[in-house]
Amino acid sequence: MAETKKLLRALAGERLPVPPVWMMRQAGRYLPEYRATRAQAGDFLSLCYNPELAAEVTLQPIRRYGFDAAILFADILLIPDALGADLWFVTGEGPRLSTVTSERDFAALKGAGDIHDHLAPVYETVRILARELPAETALIGFAGAPWTVATYMIAGRSTPDQGPAHALKAENTALFEALLERLTEATIEYLSAQVAAGAEVVKLFDSWAGSLKGADFDRYALAPAKRIIAELKARHPGLPVIAFPREAGQKYVGFARATGADCVALDNSVRPEWAAAHVQCDGCVQGNLASSHMVTGGRALIAETRRVVEAFSGGPHIFNLGHGITPDADPENVRLMVETVRSMPVR
Ligand code: CP3
Repeated sequence: MAETKKLLRALAGERLPVPPVWMMRQAGRYLPEYRATRAQAGDFLSLCYNPELAAEVTLQPIRRYGFDAAILFADILLIPDALGADLWFVTGEGPRLSTVTSERDFAALKGAGDIHDHLAPVYETVRILARELPAETALIGFAGAPWTVATYMIAGRSTPDQGPAHALKAENTALFEALLERLTEATIEYLSAQVAAGAEVVKLFDSWAGSLKGADFDRYALAPAKRIIAELKARHPGLPVIAFPREAGQKYVGFARATGADCVALDNSVRPEWAAAHVQCDGCVQGNLASSHMVTGGRALIAETRRVVEAFSGGPHIFNLGHGITPDADPENVRLMVETVRSMPVR
């Protein structure tokens, strides 16, 4: 049967007259219905581990905007939680975790194969979504890439420059690499279980890839992605994978080829015209409207949306933002973006 889901067609390398569209953090605080469901769950983590409510918030933006893809509602920090780190969220500040900076901390972590009991509610969310999503909507599972997740585990919180992780990498390379290895194995386990439960695509978020330079980028961003993708494709032949090495800059060139990813997601520090010439030549790209337009709206939103669609119109493209939508965004601007993408003259 010919594939009817537009997202999967783009990921298979097809250039579509109107690109599929979805948005990073599309289930989130800018939506009043999300805030209501989160209040019902109690807090953010309780929402992540409540399959009915997590499925509900995943579906909310699909109902509102008819996006071409739904992304599982969960978080990249559920893996450290499942490995036995303490995790909590401080309202208005972000995540807090117990830190891993010594051999003793590392020895207390669980094995990669021991995460599934803890993550069973997430797999249940995927099963509910696979049942309830409209036939034309693709289901994306995800995980954080090992480096990005390690930056949170080492520092115990978000950091502006990933300083503590860079310090451990320099001062105790063996421990740092052991942690990345554990996270690589756990990520393979976790994503593989999401696919078994019904995820049709997986995305690997390396939000802090841009702070790895030169050989460090190849060793700690590119190599783990390559290994995760190879293992997932061996277990699930034909599985499409989106990689997001955020702020990789010049390192976006050739990243898909080097890692085996079917698509690279572009952040908005990259000019779409440049990326069309140097990255899209290898296959599908995703991106990359600045999320600030979801706050400011108006003619600039329309003009920049058209510019992104135009720039990538010569090849396979998934329309998205360059990073997650922010809580201060206006839901009506999202509608305007989706309408602008879908009402452009057919190419
Ligand atoms: O809609 C979706 O995109 C799916 C769900 C999703 C969330 N987080 C929900 C969430 C996804 C794909 C993520 C990924 C994620 N989580 C990343 C990588 C992408 C990126 O943004 O770079 C990272 C670094 C995290 C870790 C994380 N989770 C942080 C640093 C924070 C706090 C900062 C913030 O934005 O509030 C979170 C919380 C979080 N994850 C929220 C949501 C909807 C907000 C929590 C709330 O409801 O209060």
